[in-house]
Amino acid sequence: MSKPRYYFIGDGDKANLDFPSLRFDYLRCPYRFEAIFEHGVWRVRGAIEDNAMHLPEGSQCLHYGQQLFEGMKVQTGADGKLYAFRPRENARRISDGARYLHGPEIPEELFLRGIEEVTLANKPYIPPYGSGAALYVRPFYLGIGDNVGVKPASSYIFRIFVTPVGPYFIGGFGPEQGKAFRVSEYDRAAPMGTGHVKAGGNYACSFHPGAEAKGSGYAEALYLDPVEHKYIEEIGAANFLALKGDTLLTPKSGSILPSITRRSIMELGEKVFKWKVEERKIALIELDEIDAAACCGTAAVITWIKEIAGADKKWSFPFDKRWQQLYDKLTGIQTATEDDPLGWRYEIK
Ligand SMILES: Cc1ncc(COP(=O)(O)O)c(C=O)c1O
Repeated sequence: MSKPRYYFIGDGDKANLDFPSLRFDYLRCPYRFEAIFEHGVWRVRGAIEDNAMHLPEGSQCLHYGQQLFEGMKVQTGADGKLYAFRPRENARRISDGARYLHGPEIPEELFLRGIEEVTLANKPYIPPYGSGAALYVRPFYLGIGDNVGVKPASSYIFRIFVTPVGPYFIGGFGPEQGKAFRVSEYDRAAPMGTGHVKAGGNYACSFHPGAEAKGSGYAEALYLDPVEHKYIEEIGAANFLALKGDTLLTPKSGSILPSITRRSIMELGEKVFKWKVEERKIALIELDEIDAAACCGTAAVITWIKEIAGADKKWSFPFDKRWQQLYDKLTGIQTATEDDPLGWRYEIK
């Protein structure tokens, strides 16, 4: 890609931020990327400065939740280069969602170009290698227009903002950093609903269960399947993983978000570590037989679980060194301290 039009005097210098102390919070960066879909074509506005948006009041995204988002990270590698992680998978997932919400897909080329442009335009805000922080990249998609009926929009905004972030669960990763989760009596997604796409509405209905879990001292809510309340689905904004004997397990369900981190971990388990891996239903009661548990996602990376509290039973789990192996390999691929056998790093230059 050619050099962006946006630059800082002293280009390459870092913004005056305490990168190692960052939390998972929004910090307004100078530029965001935007494209508008109108009359059947995407018009690229490129990197713009205004972080506020001016939307028609009848917009479908405001009334009927015609909205999607993605979450990914750009990290500075040990070699000083900038890397995204499997961004084509995010491009595919947002377009899967767009088809489901009856809007236009986002061409992969537009998605990748947006990620590259917004990253380079905000270069001083990209945390340095070794700071423990990353540039969080938030692409999102809104149905807009002068409308009042319940129907898909004819115009769309695709925007990407970035913000430097620290760890999602305070404390980062390590044998002392296990988290406790509470089984929720509520559902985050309906069977045959929108749980498998990253639509904002799925998150609105997680606020109440999340607040209840946090209010009683847990890191997040763990959801069960919405049909029988018997099988484990996922945790807040992270998928679930378990180790049972020599097998790495993850739930199979049509109502969880297909996590790119999870898919990567399952592939690492199978192809790099040569473990047995299985994607299948995992009953809550099967926790009796499970040796170790964790959750994973772009924000959570791999977070091991020390406790799961059900309505009338608690399960405790030890730290398992296989979580460390997976964490080291995954983050090593992301930051170029490990080789990249499956071709997942995407250099931004
Ligand atoms: C509900 C939910 N599950 C799982 C994940 C993890 O997905 P990924 O690994 O693609 O970030 C996320 C985060 O995007 C999420 O919001």
